[in-house]
Amino acid sequence: STKSSLSLWSHFRGALQIIDFDFRYVYVNEVCAKQGRKTREELVGRTMMEVYPGIESTAMYSVLQNCLRERTSAEIENEFTYPDGKTAWFSLTIAPVSEGILILSLDITPHKQTTLELQTQLLRIEALKEIDLAILGTTDLSLALNTILEKVTSNLKVDAGAILLQNRYTNILEFAAGRGFRSREIEKTQLRVGKGQAGLAALEQKTIFLADLRNADPPFIRSHLVAAEGFVSYGVTPLTAKGKLIGVLEIFHRTKLHPGQSWFNFFHALAGQTSIAIESGQIFQELQRASLELALAYDATLEGWAKGLELRDRETEGHTQRVTDMTAVLAKMARISDSELIHIRRGAMLHDIGKLGVPDSVLLKPGKLSDDEWAIMRQHPTFAYEWLYPIEYLRPCLAIPHSHHEKWDGTGYPQGLKGEQIPLAARIFAVVDVWDALTSDRPYRQAWSQEQALEYIQKQAGAHFDPNVTRLFLQMVNDDESYKTG
Ligand code: C2E
Ligand code: SIN
Ligand code: SIN
Ligand code: FE
Ligand code: FE
Repeated sequence: STKSSLSLWSHFRGALQIIDFDFRYVYVNEVCAKQGRKTREELVGRTMMEVYPGIESTAMYSVLQNCLRERTSAEIENEFTYPDGKTAWFSLTIAPVSEGILILSLDITPHKQTTLELQTQLLRIEALKEIDLAILGTTDLSLALNTILEKVTSNLKVDAGAILLQNRYTNILEFAAGRGFRSREIEKTQLRVGKGQAGLAALEQKTIFLADLRNADPPFIRSHLVAAEGFVSYGVTPLTAKGKLIGVLEIFHRTKLHPGQSWFNFFHALAGQTSIAIESGQIFQELQRASLELALAYDATLEGWAKGLELRDRETEGHTQRVTDMTAVLAKMARISDSELIHIRRGAMLHDIGKLGVPDSVLLKPGKLSDDEWAIMRQHPTFAYEWLYPIEYLRPCLAIPHSHHEKWDGTGYPQGLKGEQIPLAARIFAVVDVWDALTSDRPYRQAWSQEQALEYIQKQAGAHFDPNVTRLFLQMVNDDESYKTG
């Protein structure tokens, strides 16, 4: 029956073979022998295991074995590795015949490569997108670099990756992040630009790839690294931002790599993403540092202003600090958010900055003010508004300096605001300010006792002061003896 079935197949253009129950080649056509890079003579009479040692451990072998045992058919795609390491893809159709099984095989390598290439490209685009998200999602540069290296090693299929950054002052490439290393050798990396493979890649802004770094020319300087890690293949590509060098991206592999053009394309794309991450991370860090310095400088300036004001006003020492701290406590009790608190503190510190526009003769007058003098004095919140408004940084603090003399019943100044028209921060501050003013000596009167002051504030709830804020204030003073300064 073999003879007759074979004659049927004599015009078949594909590869055809029959193996018996011991995996011995019974029949092999010319195309099939060529596919396996063997002659028919080398195959027929021998077993698959003799011809292709190690084949027993492949998935294909198990399928063949199953077909032989169960007398069933199967169709599989199989990647075949030649002794030189090259691979090819075959589509196998397996059918039981009396001698054993018949195998038709079709070389689908070009088709398969296209499909795999497409899949790889998709995965790589996905990886670039994920890196993008990682960069956007964190302001922590080392976190972003670690995410990038994870994508680099998994998508380029390499054992390890490292990012070296150029020290701007010394021009030395220093370790910044690494992944896939067994030892800590990589962290010791210190390479002058121009020196070694990485230094050369940095200097000439080109990618260098060494399939075997034991034969590198110039030699690979970090021999301890190679020895400790057992690396064989190596690649390095420069990281640049706006044409300027910022570092290098390195990959290491413990067996020989055979990268193709698309691998290099992706290596470069990853380097581009890495550069962006580093650049934006560094810019962010610098911005943060700059704005912190600015904020510190501003706050120091504000404190300076407030001190100058106290001196001129001959107010009790520490008035500004006291009202600022009390206002912050009361604001917290009124559930004002932490982010707003900083503005409230600054506002409280600057509450009477407008008094700088009031002449000494009025400000320091020992007795009652005349109508004209009052008219000037009542301008101090407006002065504050006019001075602070143009300073963008202080605009969110304006409520207190501008509105701390407004009254709940609408009889205050400068705008005659009523009830909740008055910013909450200013309603809070007003109570604290009057409390501190009443319990302090003034050029125009002696300090009141705390009992008198508390009684007065209680009486003004709903008239001068917001009743709710008054309630919170009394609660605060009663809760904490330390506020009663006498
Ligand atoms: P200040 O002395 O810091 O007083 C702040 C606020 O505390 C006052 O706002 C007022 O609401 C309250 N306050 C202070 N002292 C008394 C007081 O003896 N009795 C009562 N009932 N409340 C008091 P106000 O009235 O808008 O005054 C604003 C600023 O005008 C005062 O700040 C002070 O610098 C000045 N001022 C007010 N009255 C006089 C005065 O009779 N003579 C002088 N030289 N300055 C005055
Ligand atoms: C490197 O190539 O990264 C280090 C320099 C060298 O050893 O050649
Ligand atoms: C203060 O004593 O500085 C408060 C007076 C005011 O707010 O006008
Ligand atoms: Fe004031
Ligand atoms: Fe004050």
